Amino acid sequence: MSAVNRIALVEEFLERQSRLDTLRFITCGSVDDGKSTLIGRLLFESHALFDDQVEALKNDSKRMGTQGGEIDFALLVDGLAAEREQGITIDVAYRFFSTDRRKFIVADTPGHEQYTRNMVTGASTAQVAVILIDARQGVLPQTRRHSFIASLLGIRHVVVAVNKMDLVQSSKEVFDRIVADYASFAKRLAFESITPIPLSALRGDNIITRSAHTPWYHGPTLMGYLETVPVHRADAMRPFRMAVQWVNRPSDQFRGFSGLIVSGSVARGDAVRVLPSGVTAHVQDIFVGTESRAHAVPEQSVTITLDREIDASRGDVFAAADSPCEVADQFEATLVWMDQSTGHTGRSYILKLGSATVSASITDIKCRFNIQTLDEVPARQLNLNEIGTVKLSLDRLLPFDPHREIPDMGAFILVDRFTNATVAAGMIHFALRRSKNVHRQSLTIDRAARELQNGHRARCIWLTGLSGSGKSTIANELERRLHARGMKTFVLDGDNIRHGLNKDLGFTDADRVENIRRVAEVARLMVDAGIVVITAFISPFRAEREMARLLFGQDEFIEVFVDTPIAVAESRDPKGLYKKARRGEIPNFTGINSPYEAPVHPEITIRSHETSVDESVGRIVLYLDSPH
Ligand code: ADX
Repeated sequence: MSAVNRIALVEEFLERQSRLDTLRFITCGSVDDGKSTLIGRLLFESHALFDDQVEALKNDSKRMGTQGGEIDFALLVDGLAAEREQGITIDVAYRFFSTDRRKFIVADTPGHEQYTRNMVTGASTAQVAVILIDARQGVLPQTRRHSFIASLLGIRHVVVAVNKMDLVQSSKEVFDRIVADYASFAKRLAFESITPIPLSALRGDNIITRSAHTPWYHGPTLMGYLETVPVHRADAMRPFRMAVQWVNRPSDQFRGFSGLIVSGSVARGDAVRVLPSGVTAHVQDIFVGTESRAHAVPEQSVTITLDREIDASRGDVFAAADSPCEVADQFEATLVWMDQSTGHTGRSYILKLGSATVSASITDIKCRFNIQTLDEVPARQLNLNEIGTVKLSLDRLLPFDPHREIPDMGAFILVDRFTNATVAAGMIHFALRRSKNVHRQSLTIDRAARELQNGHRARCIWLTGLSGSGKSTIANELERRLHARGMKTFVLDGDNIRHGLNKDLGFTDADRVENIRRVAEVARLMVDAGIVVITAFISPFRAEREMARLLFGQDEFIEVFVDTPIAVAESRDPKGLYKKARRGEIPNFTGINSPYEAPVHPEITIRSHETSVDESVGRIVLYLDSPH
């Protein structure tokens, strides 16, 4: 497409946007900052309420309002919230209203600290953040947290809404102090504009009309600002990206690739590059629904046909051929941790970016941020509501753009494999160079050659269970039997490895994660060397056992759950550790003050208190001998 055409196209898009001209914003505030009242006021003043709702509101306000018979706008919003809670939980309430000049979508998110998750959801599509500050309280930890998250998610314009000015006698000094305080914090954030406005949502000061109580204030009213803040969307100017959602093949004659245009525009005849494969082709046709179009723009769902047969599937990206996105399997990224379960180095999650789903593990936690000072502090883990910089390693190549360049191509979530909970939201900074520069060396003598020479397959037999459950005893006897058959074997045992390779590790959750990660990697090397490896580690966490499993091929990893009631393990107490732990001398002792997550689908379960060692080993040998 010629440059002139492209400009025309961009203009058309912008024109369309301006006709729609919708502003998306988010309100953030601490509990009791008056957020409900503010939103209620905006809805009311813009006549977004139906008359019967207003009537009900007047009655409710008389009955249970806190405003002495005046309309209590908080009741309105809280009422809507209660309604919402009756259905399935929607964490973020989107409210719509409009004035003559603009349409508005406001993401209303609960203000408690534990609702960081909701704030992230609401902020991810917002163009403006309205940060509420109670004039009596000034800048609070929550104010900083919300501002930091808004900045990380790419919001460039903030309103510092200093509310409840009526309760500080509309004092200019109070306002100025809060504004200065906020500015000194926010100078380290990436906002383009910060607009402070003194408000009283309750009295309606500076919401729609300028207040007589603040004659010293010459800036815009809140509504005035929201109606006029220029927020042209940059999507159309950016290079073309479409995340492939599915391959549309209703018949042999038609093969289209369906997906959402994330940025840029596309026209018939354009050269596109498919990532990660890098194959190029030209756009033959573009369908929006069933209608053929000459071109398409951001936020449209389209089906594209190409001038030649190529392979592409869900998770791939179509990009402008001359300005493609990047492809990598290792990144540095910011994570906003949103789950009760802690994030550890070495732990593996499901990463979702656009339509792609890959397996990702945290290889390093570089730092976490002190939300108050924005300073980086060393960290080995990420807890609920913490924000940190990490390195991630994926199991395959992922097409992406850095988040600051094309937000939708660089924003992802991490999902727990077992609970399916979203544990973190992430923003990609850049690919790590090593992901491109470290190649696997291919060697002539491979695993198959070694297995052939040994006369048996290489496997990893992973024993897991409480301390004292009998893992080491079973491992020892199993190895003896296999060795007697002439097989190449090796036992990796917790107590031994912890004297050497892992002597730097203790028993905190983070150390156990790292312990198992290293053991799994070593076991894999040994399996590659053609050996039957038997591991005997408590390995208390499902996530790490799953991570270990993923390092191996199908049928190569045999998880054996040595299932012994804690009472039995404790009565055996071969090393006297349970006694010590009961006396409170060992912190984090598995089964006592540190959890053990039993396997859900182990290949073999051995109830060692009901089964002899011989019989237990016999069952594992039988499993190895039978075809799988
Ligand atoms: S794991 O949890 O990281 O897999 P690993 O199997 O390597 O543990 O080590 C467990 C052994 O370390 C136990 O059998 C026991 O002898 C010893 N040990 C010392 N402290 C602890 C503790 N706090 N919890 C569990 N085992 C401990």
